[in-house]
Amino acid sequence: MNIVLIGMRGSGKTTVGRILAQKLGRDLVEMDELITQRAGLSIPETVDKYGWAKFREIEEEITGEVSRMENIINASGGGVITEARNTARLKENGALVWLTAGVDTLLKRTGQDSQRPPLVSGRTQRGDLEMTLAERKALYQRAADLMVDTEGKTPQETAEMVIKLLSKICCLIGDPVEHSLSPLIHNAGYKALGIDYVYIPFRVKEVKKAIEGIRGLGIRGASVTLPHKTSTLKYLDKIDPRAEAIGAVNTIVNDEGVLSGYNTDGEGALKALEEVTAPGGKKAVLIGSGGAASAIAAALKDSGAELVILNRTGDKARELAKKFNAEDGGGLEKLPLITKADILINATSVGMSPKTGQSIVPEELLHSRLTVFDIVYNPRETRLITQAKEKGCAVVYGYKMLLYQAALQFELFTGLKAPIAVMESALTQALEGGENATHIDRR
Ligand SMILES: NC(=O)c1ccc[n+]([C@@H]2O[C@H](COP(=O)([O-])OP(=O)(O)OC[C@H]3O[C@@H](n4cnc5c(N)ncnc54)[C@H](OP(=O)(O)O)[C@@H]3O)[C@@H](O)[C@H]2O)c1
Repeated sequence: MNIVLIGMRGSGKTTVGRILAQKLGRDLVEMDELITQRAGLSIPETVDKYGWAKFREIEEEITGEVSRMENIINASGGGVITEARNTARLKENGALVWLTAGVDTLLKRTGQDSQRPPLVSGRTQRGDLEMTLAERKALYQRAADLMVDTEGKTPQETAEMVIKLLSKICCLIGDPVEHSLSPLIHNAGYKALGIDYVYIPFRVKEVKKAIEGIRGLGIRGASVTLPHKTSTLKYLDKIDPRAEAIGAVNTIVNDEGVLSGYNTDGEGALKALEEVTAPGGKKAVLIGSGGAASAIAAALKDSGAELVILNRTGDKARELAKKFNAEDGGGLEKLPLITKADILINATSVGMSPKTGQSIVPEELLHSRLTVFDIVYNPRETRLITQAKEKGCAVVYGYKMLLYQAALQFELFTGLKAPIAVMESALTQALEGGENATHIDRR
């Protein structure tokens, strides 16, 4: 998990980076220095001898290497964001902080700088800066996760401001994360409340290093997704009893270096279900025995439902039933129990895009007294949901679980009530019309 300082030359990336590295106990990596070492020439010499295209080629190579480093402060090159590929790579495991300043300040700070040649020879320094800033401004804006205006601030003050903003970062850690809807849901909530939080996805291969990053950088919290929900547990300081029972966390909250783990999946599912029916004392059949099913089983048992857990691999269902004191557990041959149930929950991946024509439940087992909850949310109208509606069942959509587990995380991160309507609208719009809709299969 890296902090990547972006901005024009003269914005203070190296000086502020040095202070940040010292304050946060991280290594500072200066991309221009690495480029100089790789080229064996200074940057002006490289550009003179080989041209800007060659310089950008080396820069791309270095960007790849730097984005594979962990927990560094990266003082990036001013033009690195002009290549979308570079920006995407830096963002995979980095929060991009844009240091801004006006042309007069940049000029004053770079007055003595002969290290960087103008992009177009023959321009004055001012003309060069003005032109370059105008060209890049929108790119910096698009790339940045955070922005700090350095005007009138000492480097020390800027660094302190960056550290303050880090404490308002919440993130998603998982692999892959690129099609996740969590940033959209959380950021819509922050925007609606007008709070200066920001939610950033990080592609994390080694969870231990990510946890070190969260603790060391003072990041406020994290959602945890596949494949790290179980492996994260051992690196945390406190585990909520529900998460402990499930054996997995989907949420980390950082209270001044003390990391607590929670699991909001089960409670999120329960909230979704309770919009339609109260499960206490009802007969519920839960199909599935993976991570989501475990979290739902724990929440359902706590709500007082009579629970039967079924799964393709019957032994896993029996094990889960035993763990959560369910009434029964077994293989799919027991599906006819649905005819006597009040609630049916599909917590398997059957029916998920692209295999949307499938349902784990034979249609003839559905009946009108049943509430049917399919936790698959892509597509929204799964085959199971469509057939359940045709049989007159009440239905609960999978996206509601996604929404409520995120809302519970939002409240743990911010201490504020989640603006559900706004978050729901951002989510449903993305599911219905988003360009990623056919790829969405995870949080
Ligand atoms: N709405 C939400 O907020 C939310 C949250 C989490 C997950 N989900 C969705 O829930 C689903 C399960 O997620 P998970 O994290 O629990 O996954 P998981 O741990 O991999 O578990 C997958 C479950 O699906 C069953 N399964 C897979 N393919 C099957 C097939 N062809 N026939 C019968 N059963 C099959 C597995 O049975 P075996 O044990 O026999 O392999 C297992 O019980 C996914 O579609 C996920 O996107 C939704």
